[in-house]
Amino acid sequence: MQPRPDHDHNTAGLTPTHLLAVLLPLLLLYFTFRFLDLTPGLLTPSVIRDIIFGRPRSRSRSPNLSSTSNSNSSNPTTNSIPPYFSLHRAIASYDAYPALALAEHAAMQRSYARLTYAHRRTGYALGYTRKLEGLRRAEEVNAGVLRAVAGLARVQFAWGEGGDGEGGERGEGGMGLWAMMKWVMWREEDVRPDVGRVREAMKHFVRDWSEEGKEERGKIFEPILRVMRQSEEEGRKGEKVLVPGSGLGRLAWEVAELGYDTTAIELSYFMTLAFRFLLSPQTTQTPNQHTVHPYAYWFSHSRSSTNTLRGISFPDVVPRLQNNFHLIEGDFLTHNPSQNASYDYVVTLFFIDTSTNIISTLEHIYALLKPGGTWINLGPLLWTGGAQARMELSLEEVLELAETVEFRMAGEEDEVRRRRTVECEYTADRTAMMKWLYQAEFWVATKPA
Ligand SMILES: C[S@@+](CC[C@H](N)C(=O)[O-])C[C@H]1O[C@@H](n2cnc3c(N)ncnc32)[C@H](O)[C@@H]1O
Repeated sequence: MQPRPDHDHNTAGLTPTHLLAVLLPLLLLYFTFRFLDLTPGLLTPSVIRDIIFGRPRSRSRSPNLSSTSNSNSSNPTTNSIPPYFSLHRAIASYDAYPALALAEHAAMQRSYARLTYAHRRTGYALGYTRKLEGLRRAEEVNAGVLRAVAGLARVQFAWGEGGDGEGGERGEGGMGLWAMMKWVMWREEDVRPDVGRVREAMKHFVRDWSEEGKEERGKIFEPILRVMRQSEEEGRKGEKVLVPGSGLGRLAWEVAELGYDTTAIELSYFMTLAFRFLLSPQTTQTPNQHTVHPYAYWFSHSRSSTNTLRGISFPDVVPRLQNNFHLIEGDFLTHNPSQNASYDYVVTLFFIDTSTNIISTLEHIYALLKPGGTWINLGPLLWTGGAQARMELSLEEVLELAETVEFRMAGEEDEVRRRRTVECEYTADRTAMMKWLYQAEFWVATKPA
């Protein structure tokens, strides 16, 4: 028998089996800590993560808005984003949506299958199986859009296979196992998917950027835009407008279209990734290029299955960031351009009640306005529940607070600017059997010159 070559006995060479033997226990340890939420002494999950994979070079890169923007925003990075709105969580949620929707669909099918044979025949005759099939197809269409949102984000933030801010090569489709593991591990935030927020973003595609959303937009945008149209057209490009909590950006875009130098600022990556999907020529080139079925998942209050499962095309117009239209992904409360008092207008739409400290919010709006500057507000007072908001004020109290902060409310005699109630909906399915109607309040207030 031939003697076996020496290197076969060479214990110094690392084989994949050796690597696995080292990695597996460490991985097991990591996940045990993670799921039991144990962080003993120095051996924290992040330390173990770094032992295994090394330290990631840069976790938070500036979002690549430059291809679509000449943004001069002060800091268009991930400043002060809370974990539940983080980039990680948003991408993970957009990525996870197809699988979670599929699981939901499978559960509905199992539920239907538990009916007796006779009832299933009746269900079949009613078209229920066709409806479930329609739901599956609708979710496939949704999945295509949502994967593309996540894919673009990975490209723009260069968080692809490289995983270290240098790559970005996996623009479309799913992630490899290696990238997925790193994705899960290289994080400080919670990345559990939030399907609710993805669904909310789909509804915002419709409310903000579809023909179908026009009526709803008209009711809430028009009072604001009427005020903005009062300024002479020539002077507008020298006037700065801030739209905090800009969501999917339509109002800010409309304001920019009037000629103002407009900055949209939005905290949630669930919103800004969806907006980026529209802003980028990589993903959106023509009007009505995309379709979503935003109401398909909810069979309640449905007048007809055709209505519920309907697809809605968007965008009705193709938005682009430009010299006078900027996007900041960050916290309005920490937004402090070079100096305070730099905006001519601050426009808040369905925004002030999202604040956990309404006093800080009003004070900050005041601080950001130039003397003589204008604050336009339209929205309800739906405070964040669970005692998260430090104070949950009534309309009377908010108005009194505005005066305390030293805002001056426009008077009754001013037809365009007077305070009034606006009945409106928010990302509603207009065909449904249920309506959530807001009696939102509109006002215009100025900072004394
Ligand atoms: C109810 S939504 C309204 C969005 C948009 N104004 C509209 O009408 O479609 C409130 C938005 O404000 C954002 N937001 C909340 N607090 C914020 C903050 N401190 N800075 C920036 N955006 C914030 C939320 O992420 C959310 O997108």
